[in-house]
Parts: sequence; structure tokens; C-alpha cells
Amino acid sequence: KAFEDERYDYIFKLVVVGDSGVGKSSLVNQFCHESFTFDLKSTIGVEFNVKTVEVNGKIIKSQLWDTAGQERYRSVAASYYRGALGAVLVFDVTYTKSFLNLPFWIDEVKRYCADAKILLVGNKTDLKDLRGVTHADAFEFAAANNLMYVESSAKDNGSVGYAFKKLLGEVQ
Ligand code: GTP
Ligand code: MG
Repeated sequence: KAFEDERYDYIFKLVVVGDSGVGKSSLVNQFCHESFTFDLKSTIGVEFNVKTVEVNGKIIKSQLWDTAGQERYRSVAASYYRGALGAVLVFDVTYTKSFLNLPFWIDEVKRYCADAKILLVGNKTDLKDLRGVTHADAFEFAAANNLMYVESSAKDNGSVGYAFKKLLGEVQ
């Protein structure tokens, strides 16, 4: 069994970036461990997770670098991007500021891993009444910046696996 778990066709490194509190760690935990909690600690530096999934008939081992969104950790962030083939850029659909900060994160990804594919994720869609960013606005922003766009809820596990697999499918 242990041997079987180690079989894969590719290893892909993905970085998960975006403002603090948008749900980066929650998305990673849902994808890797099928769990969600409201009292998650804010990430310090970076946390590593791995998840092996099948995409387009290939077994892909994804190494997820879940970075800290808090500003005080950003100076060391450059090294986290090295070698990443994809970036999951997360904002919170109930928190407009996290949407308005997206150009900052796009610049970061382009500076440190120019060739990485970027998937924009609008998270927390379960909070329908609190929504501050419409699907149309986010979709338009993504199209204008050449990004793929998916909405998700780390809480309800809405589209979380779909989102990560969509990005992994674009990375080759
Ligand atoms: P940093 O580590 O500080 O960069 O934050 P983060 O982006 O990793 O956010 P985190 O996953 O820690 O989530 C912040 C808070 O939002 C936590 O209380 C989560 O439980 C909550 N949260 C995350 N995703 C969702 C979601 O889809 N729906 C709801 N309702 N809450 C969520
Ligand atoms: Mg975190």
C-alpha cells in the first residue's frame, strides 16, 4: 500500500497566494484532508501539503505551498515561488479589498515564476448574503488578465477539488 501511494507520473509544485484570511489554508486542508474548521490559525511563513490525484489519466503528485497572506511575511516570500508551475490566487468574495489587491499578487507571481499558470479562485461562496464581489466582475477581471476563474467554498467543499484539478490539468 505504501509503495502504491508513491507511484505517480508527475510532481508539480503549486503556490497558494492571496490576502490573509481569504481561505488559502482552508482550501488546501479541504483538498488534502477533507476537513474544515472556523478556528484555523493564520499561516506563519509557509506550510507544505501534498495530494496525489488523477488528472487526464495521469497520476499527479501536487506539492502545495500554502503561503502566509500577512504583510509581515512577504519579504521572505520570493523563495516560495521558485520552481512553481502553477499558482492558486485566492480572494474572498465577501471581502472586496481582497479582490482589489489581486493586481499586487499577479505582479508577485509574474515576477518570481513568470511561466506559472494562474488560477483565480473566488472563495467563500457559501456566504451568499455577504457577497461583495459579483461573479460577473470577477469573471471579467480574470478574462482581462488572462487567468482561469473558479468560485469555491472551502466550508461546503464546493468546487475545491475541481479547482485544484483544473489548474493541475493546465500545468505540463
Ligand atoms: P492566512 O494564513 O493569514 O494568509 O489566511 P488564509 O488565507 O490561509 O485563511 P484561512 O484558511 O486561515 O481562513 C480564514 C478564515 O476564513 C477561517 O476562519 C476559515 O474558517 C474561514 N473560511 C475559509 N474558507 C471559508 C469558506 O469557504 N466559507 C466560510 N464561511 N469561511 C471560510
Ligand atoms: Mg493560511
